[in-house]
Amino acid sequence: DGEVFVRGLKDLIRTIPDYPKPGIMFRDVTTLLGDAKGLKTAVAAMAEPFEGERVDAVAGIEARGFILGGAIADRLGCGFIPIRKKGKLPWKTIGQEYTLEYGVDVIEIHEDALAPGQRVLIVDDLIATGGTADAAVKLLRRSKGEIVGATFIIDLPELGGLELVKSHGIPCHALVAFD
Ligand code: PRP
Ligand code: ADE
Repeated sequence: DGEVFVRGLKDLIRTIPDYPKPGIMFRDVTTLLGDAKGLKTAVAAMAEPFEGERVDAVAGIEARGFILGGAIADRLGCGFIPIRKKGKLPWKTIGQEYTLEYGVDVIEIHEDALAPGQRVLIVDDLIATGGTADAAVKLLRRSKGEIVGATFIIDLPELGGLELVKSHGIPCHALVAFD
């Protein structure tokens, strides 16, 4: 059932205290990704809320959003669009600044990645403050895309990111939460 399923996935996520700096509990999904049943279950559950909808593309956020995003796009029968850290994409890009714990960073998308009105699903492994996902929303809207939703393995509800993205009218789903 649902409880067993969530506990099963949660147990596959490794927590590393004080990484990358003191006070951070790092939620490491590599242990889940390395487990055949865990990976299949997570991909299916992340895609499930969007199975009945028209989705033209998955937009995966570097780096862990690429792993899940490719698998989800295959499952939904749609294309995959990479959203990358600054300077990694080879063609003309549009960029969006976002705030990190210390300072700012930029994510980019190819300027021709989307055709106007294309329906896009945002995929990442984890949402914390929502800064990254919010920047992805802005990039996709500037690209004239229509955002179908956003789907994550992990939500850190204390940081409010999922609520932030929901406040833009975007359906958001996460499989497990860590306090
Ligand atoms: C992590 C995670 C999300 C983001 C969430 O990526 O994979 O993309 O942080 O944090 P936020 O909701 O506060 O923006 P990270 O920035 O560590 O990049 P990486 O995947 O390239 O290591
Ligand atoms: N990104 C932001 N916060 C994180 C956390 N606690 N674990 C893993 N990735 C993160």
